[in-house]
Amino acid sequence: MDRRERRMKEREATPATGDTELRSLLGDAATLAAGYLEGLPDRRVTPSATVEELREEFCGPLPEEQQDPREMLARLARSAEPGLMATSGGRFFGFVIGGTMPTALAADWLASAWDQNAGLYVAAPAASVVEEACGAWLSELFGLPDGVTFGLVTGGQMANFTALAAARHHVLERAGWDVEADGLLGAPRVRVLAGEERHVTIDRALRFLGLGTSSLRPVPADGQGRMRPDALRSALAESSEPTIICAQAGNVNTGAIDPLDDICDAAGDAWVHVDGAFGLWAAASPSLRHLVRGLEHADSWATDAHKWLNVPYDSGLTFCAHPRSHRAAMGTQASYLVASETGERDQLDWNPEASRRARGFPIYAAIRSLGRSGVADLVDRCCDHARRFAEALEREPGVEVLADVVLNQVLVRFLDPGGDHGSRTRAVIRAVQEDGTCWLGGTTWQGQMAMRISVSNWSTTTEDVDRSVEAILRAAR
Ligand SMILES: Cc1ncc(COP(=O)(O)O)c(C=O)c1O
Repeated sequence: MDRRERRMKEREATPATGDTELRSLLGDAATLAAGYLEGLPDRRVTPSATVEELREEFCGPLPEEQQDPREMLARLARSAEPGLMATSGGRFFGFVIGGTMPTALAADWLASAWDQNAGLYVAAPAASVVEEACGAWLSELFGLPDGVTFGLVTGGQMANFTALAAARHHVLERAGWDVEADGLLGAPRVRVLAGEERHVTIDRALRFLGLGTSSLRPVPADGQGRMRPDALRSALAESSEPTIICAQAGNVNTGAIDPLDDICDAAGDAWVHVDGAFGLWAAASPSLRHLVRGLEHADSWATDAHKWLNVPYDSGLTFCAHPRSHRAAMGTQASYLVASETGERDQLDWNPEASRRARGFPIYAAIRSLGRSGVADLVDRCCDHARRFAEALEREPGVEVLADVVLNQVLVRFLDPGGDHGSRTRAVIRAVQEDGTCWLGGTTWQGQMAMRISVSNWSTTTEDVDRSVEAILRAAR
């Protein structure tokens, strides 16, 4: 076999290499994706397949032979669809899950096609510069101080981790300890003051960072879940150890925002981190900006783009007001890594990843297409829908709204004539999930079982809210 024949054979053996096969395959993917998205308004939100059925579909023996790429893709879509939760549709209100705007989705497809390794400028120049634009635009939208550094990470969890790594470096360096070189054995103790209603990813980040959850001193919160500044001041006065304060913008249950101006005022030398996975977006809305007053005085911030900006998973951001500490915690060097020397930005110096997806492209597309006013409108719209939910449910006898609706979160419970409100609320949640018109989950809020409604999707309409309210009340009757 000569060289030409060998190459022909190789091409035949490699699925979808020819131009027409490639276009057909990607065309199929686009058709399947568009069909799925177009069907969302009429589709049951809840998956119909059981875990056994899904295992039956997917978990056969390891395939020995190749399969035609187009057949494989069609089969993949057919098998997966019954197991998809319609989280990208307008009537999914569980957890805090955004959808994906078409512009961001399209840019994400390009990011996959370009397949850039966005760790180093030299390997992916456009990805690096697009991240610079995202960092600059978002810090302006949030009103963060000039010169903040940033990192694009997988989500709120890693955004908290990255920011707290910078905080750990900073407070220990001030205490004369180099944590990057010497670790934590024998280091001065670091204490972390965080609201008792903090998100669980704070505790997990402390575990990852070796600070441990026993470094955490919970600060009492008020009835809405906001850290109490008077309690913070007392906690601060107890010790002069290196201290990190974890404040929160957007409680995962109530949406409540800690009083950031009072917290930053009280902090003194302590590092203030703001976990704003979704609540930081209040800063982008002129009508909600007052809720995060004082935000700019903090030292680091974490947020998500896959929640309220509605870009595809996974996408979070961390910002830091101390570039040297951020770089000291995250920076990486090796002889084979071609570090930029003339001011270009190597992303791996600002986040905990090495090889990584170019997740700046969908963020860029989202902000570029919405503009400042579009982002504000997206945030305001979700909050209006949340208020509509609360008002409609509250009108019904036996339904109690448990917390002020300040952002996009609503907490309700269903009163039981016999007094077992917890069981009744759980039963209503289960019935709503089984009905499939919408999906929402439950939580325990200050000792009471509650239904959680989170409106985080760009495509939710007033009609979606009204249909969902009807479904909830149907389940409750
Ligand atoms: C306040 C807060 N912090 C952190 C997170 C974690 O974010 P992610 O799931 O993107 O890691 C969440 C998720 O809902 C959150 O609400």
